[in-house]
Amino acid sequence: EQIEKGGYEHFMLKEIYEQPNVIKDTYRGRLLANKGIVQMAGIEDNIEKFLNAERIIIVACGTSWHAGLVAEYIFEEFARIPVEVEYASEFRYRNPIINPKDVVIAISQSGETADTLAAIKLAKEKGAFVFGVCNVVGSSISRETHAGAYTHAGPEIGVASTKAFTTQITILTMISLRLAKAKGTMSNSDFHRYLQELEAIPEKVAEALATNDIAKTIASIYKDAPNCLYLGRGYNFPVALEGALKLKEISYIHAEGYPAAEMKHGPIALIDEKMPVIVIAPKQGHYDKVVSNIQEIKSRSGKIIAVVTKGDTQVKKLADHVIEIPDTAEALTPLLTTIPLQLLSYHIAVMRGCNVDQPRNLAKSVTVE
Ligand code: G6P
Repeated sequence: EQIEKGGYEHFMLKEIYEQPNVIKDTYRGRLLANKGIVQMAGIEDNIEKFLNAERIIIVACGTSWHAGLVAEYIFEEFARIPVEVEYASEFRYRNPIINPKDVVIAISQSGETADTLAAIKLAKEKGAFVFGVCNVVGSSISRETHAGAYTHAGPEIGVASTKAFTTQITILTMISLRLAKAKGTMSNSDFHRYLQELEAIPEKVAEALATNDIAKTIASIYKDAPNCLYLGRGYNFPVALEGALKLKEISYIHAEGYPAAEMKHGPIALIDEKMPVIVIAPKQGHYDKVVSNIQEIKSRSGKIIAVVTKGDTQVKKLADHVIEIPDTAEALTPLLTTIPLQLLSYHIAVMRGCNVDQPRNLAKSVTVE
């Protein structure tokens, strides 16, 4: 096992650090920025299904569901296709309306999650085209779907998902770009800019990993907090959910993710000097709005840990701690903002003496209902 961990103390940490490489593996041969090409066999063979789709329904569970939420923002923005993101367990039991012109995308790291598998079977019965985004080659979901694209993240052993999440977002972004190109819903210059930005992401993820020391310091300050709030807007709202999920999964600290603007409808009541609030505040996308949310937290004495774009000055003046990530295109920021949140959860869990790779009561893949 020590050899498999490749010198890291835990599989989770190894998998966090693998992200620059596995994101490259995900786009290798599929994304050629200098040639203006983004292509995947599963999409090329079924492009008409996607171009005629009146709606995309994404079904998934857990972290994969969060990747689906990020994809909702990306698909709607890039390809202008309406998207609904469903918990597979809810979808399968509520007699959903599914039309033959719907494309269903099932996202699953393991490809074995029982609820997701059942949702796929239901969608197929109702005549939808079902596309899988799986990591495990040959898994049940990859066999049950009509077509699909693998994430190629390699084996993920840590129960808390890390590299599967970022590679799922990578592949879903590529699909969106491919459809945007075919549908003409994105300008040529934006299309090329996004291809280039996506190709440069592994380098930037590596830079984001350099926040490890600061994440560790922040972890040592807040490791005994009973609660934690995560806030983000737009593309980074799902990252807030995922950040909170990571923390509760492995450290057993109660954490909630919320859209930053929704804070005033409830969570703001929880804020006092004992409440750490992690705010995802990259410079693009509603930055000014997030800054005013930060001010609201500060005026209630909440402790602010902000994830910001390198060179930020405004948030720095307000926050108790800042974690800097490199600049990128707005829709790609989740691939970077996620990294320090993974590291923060990891260090808090280690400092609390938790079993990071095998948290209590959780399973890597949930093959029963
Ligand atoms: C379990 C795992 C999570 C995972 C979820 C969905 O709860 O602990 O890490 O996100 O299942 O799994 P899947 O394999 O379908 O992505």
